[in-house]
Amino acid sequence: MSSSLLLTNCSQLVTLRGPAPRRGKALANAGIIRNGAVLIENGKLAAVGPRAEIEALPEALAAEKLDAGGRIALPGFVDSHTHLVFAASRAEEYEMRIAGASYEEIARNGGGILSSVKQLRAATEESLQQRALTALQQFAANGTTTVEAKSGYGLDAASEMKTLRIHRELKRAQPLDIVSTFLGAHVVPPEYRRPGKSADDFVELVAQELIPEVARECLAEYCDVFCDRGAFTVKQARRILTAGRACGLQPRLHAEQLARTGATQLGVELHAASCDHLEKINRADIRALAKSDTVATLLPGCCFHLGLARYAPARELIEAGAIVGLATDYNPGTSPTLSMPMILSLACTQMRMTPAEALGAATINAAYSLGRQEQTGSIEVGKLADLALFDLDDYREIPYYFGVHHCRLTLKRGKAIYCANDK
Ligand code: NIG
Ligand code: FE
Repeated sequence: MSSSLLLTNCSQLVTLRGPAPRRGKALANAGIIRNGAVLIENGKLAAVGPRAEIEALPEALAAEKLDAGGRIALPGFVDSHTHLVFAASRAEEYEMRIAGASYEEIARNGGGILSSVKQLRAATEESLQQRALTALQQFAANGTTTVEAKSGYGLDAASEMKTLRIHRELKRAQPLDIVSTFLGAHVVPPEYRRPGKSADDFVELVAQELIPEVARECLAEYCDVFCDRGAFTVKQARRILTAGRACGLQPRLHAEQLARTGATQLGVELHAASCDHLEKINRADIRALAKSDTVATLLPGCCFHLGLARYAPARELIEAGAIVGLATDYNPGTSPTLSMPMILSLACTQMRMTPAEALGAATINAAYSLGRQEQTGSIEVGKLADLALFDLDDYREIPYYFGVHHCRLTLKRGKAIYCANDK
C-alpha cells in the first residue's frame, strides 16, 4: 500500500526554507511558494514546490491526493516553552489581579506557583495526564505539532518524577512530539521555607539528587531554572545548570521576567539553548544575546494575561542580530493559552514584529531552540511532514485575525491529527 500523499492547491505554501537559525533581516524570509504543493512519503517531505512541478512528478501520480482548496499551508508551530502538566486553572488569582493584586504579591502570600504545586502533588497521575492530553489536542487544533514541556509544579522527587513520567507517557500515547525539560528549580518548595532549611539546601537537593535521577531514567533533555526575583539567584541557577549539564541535560532559563537579575548573561555564558521572557533585559543583555547562539524566546502571552505594558524588546533584539523565538508559555499562572496564532497576534501588535518575523520565530527558530531544526520548523525536503493548513488567503491574516480559530487541518508526520468540521 502506498504511504505517499500529495497535498496540492495551497494558495501560499509558507515554507520558511533556508538556513537555521534566522537572525536580523533573514527572520522575515518566509520563503512563500504561490500555488504550491508538497509530496509526502513515509511521513517526510519528499518534494516541495509549485503545484505544476510537483504534480508532474511520477511519484505524485501514484500518491493519494489531498486538495488544500486554496488554503495556506505552513510548517506546524513549534511551541518551545510550555508548562504542560498542571492540575487546575488559577482563575481566582486572575480575578484578584483584576482587582489590583500583583503576580508577585499573590505569590508571596502562598498563591502563584505554590498553589499549583499543592494541587499537582494531590492530583492523580491519570487526572494530570488526561488534562494534558486534552491540552495537546487543543495545541494540534491551533496548528502546533511540537511542544516543549517543563516539570516544575512538583518540587519534590516523587512529584517531579511523576510529571516527567507523564511527559514520557504522553510521547507514547499521542502524536505530537514532546520535548521534556526538568524545571525542578521553579520556586523554593514549602518544606524548604521552614526554620532550619534554606533555599540553598533545596538547590543542593536538585543538583545532587533530582538531576541525577532524572538523567538516569532519561526523563528530560533540558534543565531549566526560574532565575528571577522571588525565585532563584544567578549563583543558584549556575549551580543547577552546571550540575544538569554534567548529567547531559542542556541548559535553558527563565530570565529577566520580573526583574533584571543577570540571568541572560549567565545563559549566554553557559551556552544555554534559550533564555526566555526577557521583558526586563538591558542593552548589554541584547548585545550578549546577539553575539551568542542562545535563542531569545519571547512570551508575550504573559504580559497580555497579567495586564502589563512592558513587553520584551523584540525589535531591538532582531535588529541587533539575536535569534528570536516565540512560544505560548502555556501555564495556569501567567499565560493560559495554547494558541500560537494568538501569540503571533500579540507579537505583531504589541512587540511590532512583522507577520513573517513572527512566523519564523514560532517555527524554525523555535525548532532550533529545541535542537529540532533538522527535523521540523520548515517545509523542506527531508524534514517531517509537520504542516498546518489555515482557512485564510494570506499568511498575514494569521496574526491579523486575533482570537479567531482558522486552523483547518494539522498534519504530524504526514498524518492528520486535527481536522476542523466541515462548515
Ligand atoms: O513562565 N515564571 C515562571 N514560570 C511561569 C509561571 C508559572 C506560574 O505562575 O504557574 C512563567 O511565567
Ligand atoms: Fe514559563
